[in-house]
Amino acid sequence: MTQDIVVLAAGKGSRMKSSLPKVLHRLANEPMVHRVLNVASCLSDSKLHLVVGHQGEVVEQSCQKFNANIVWQHNPQGTGDALRRASSSLNDNGATLTLYGDVPLIRKETLERMISLSSFNTLVLLTIVLDDPSGYGRIVRDELGRVIAIVEQKDANDDELAINEVNTGILLAPNAHLKRWLNALTNENVQNEYYLTDIIEMAAKEGVEIVTVSPEFEWEVSGVNDRVQLAALERVWQCRQSEAVMRNGATLMDPSRIDIRGSLSTGQDCVIDVNCVFDGDVDLGKGVHIGPNCILKNCSIADGTVIKANTMIEDSVVGECCEIGPFARLRPGTKLAKKAKIGNFVETKKTVIGEGSKVNHLSYIGDACLGSAVNVGAGTITCNYDGVNKSETLIGDNVFVGSNTSIVAPIEVQSGATIAAGSTITKTIKADQLAFGRAKQMNKDGWKRPTKREK
Ligand code: UD1
Ligand code: CA
Repeated sequence: MTQDIVVLAAGKGSRMKSSLPKVLHRLANEPMVHRVLNVASCLSDSKLHLVVGHQGEVVEQSCQKFNANIVWQHNPQGTGDALRRASSSLNDNGATLTLYGDVPLIRKETLERMISLSSFNTLVLLTIVLDDPSGYGRIVRDELGRVIAIVEQKDANDDELAINEVNTGILLAPNAHLKRWLNALTNENVQNEYYLTDIIEMAAKEGVEIVTVSPEFEWEVSGVNDRVQLAALERVWQCRQSEAVMRNGATLMDPSRIDIRGSLSTGQDCVIDVNCVFDGDVDLGKGVHIGPNCILKNCSIADGTVIKANTMIEDSVVGECCEIGPFARLRPGTKLAKKAKIGNFVETKKTVIGEGSKVNHLSYIGDACLGSAVNVGAGTITCNYDGVNKSETLIGDNVFVGSNTSIVAPIEVQSGATIAAGSTITKTIKADQLAFGRAKQMNKDGWKRPTKREK
């Protein structure tokens, strides 16, 4: 059966007290509704619809990459009203899965289980038993245990309030029936809203089979209404991530002090010290050690490399057995061959560093390509920018760059060359040459220092 997936994201989310629409608040650095759309996109044979209303343009803009059919719900009047507005775009022969933009951690496996039970005459409900069911719609069953209705908290009587099986909101209904049910909804209830949940009673009365599925984890169906709940769900997610990393053979010095905002893969025996943040796709090889307070974004670090405290690495590729940091910054486009060393207060950008080459102290190396076994002395700067254009620096194998050198690009320093400390290099240095690029030192005998002028 083909699936229409409708993601509801029209609500105001006033409890967030934010100028940003609620569904765009981020969990592990990804807007909540993106997470839902991502999971939905993984389900085969399905078409995505996104219901927007409050600040709908902003939500629509942010979700462009998912190519969902945007359905507008101006002045939202309830979940049933939201789905009804999507009704005309739903495939008559399929079924519709309803998801919520503010329930960000629903898992694909759970939805697949629901889909496997779906048929033209079956409605699948995702429910969960909670110790504290308050706030949720209650699942009402008859004496044979068949679902016969969902009653919203605000409309429930005392017996119904005592039920602790609740509606997660996520449901899958066959469209042929659904469209009819949506048309029949009324808003005769305490909130004067069109409740999607009212279709359950209609289905039961018509003898449509209602089956329930429960999520494996409670957090899959936790909704976010305010920032406190968002922070709590973030922690749940982080705990889960760090647990997965440890089970996969990495050591975390403190699993409660790591943030994985994307996907982190770790080779065997990686060790990660406290307060590291991993953003985007980060890939660590075997035995990689990461010191405290490092931030790594979209990068891969090969086997045996050691990254010391307070290092930032972004959009870079690091080879085996390198040593980086403390306090190093590898900016986008940095590539280190194996055994390279980048020391403290060194910044690199769009730079290739050859095997075993060292830039150990206080340097800026940008738009450069260094061969192997190069030694760059402390305080060396590649002057890659003339105020308008960026230019490249090429340095061959075995070059020795003395301390406090400025290398003005575009320029080439050929292999085996040596640059004297304090030089400003503006011309090509040929292989094995020694270059001085500084004024000659003069020493004056008997120099009298100036004395203080009288007033
Ligand atoms: C809903 C369910 C309730 C369930 C709970 C689970 C109904 C009537 N009730 O209640 O049974 O236990 O979710 O969290 O369905 N939205 C729209 N347009 C609207 C109204 C809501 O897009 O007109 C969106 C909201 O942005 C939100 C979601 O639908 O993402 C849920 O709406 P909300 O008002 O929070 O529903 P609840 O009252 O929590
Ligand atoms: Ca809610």
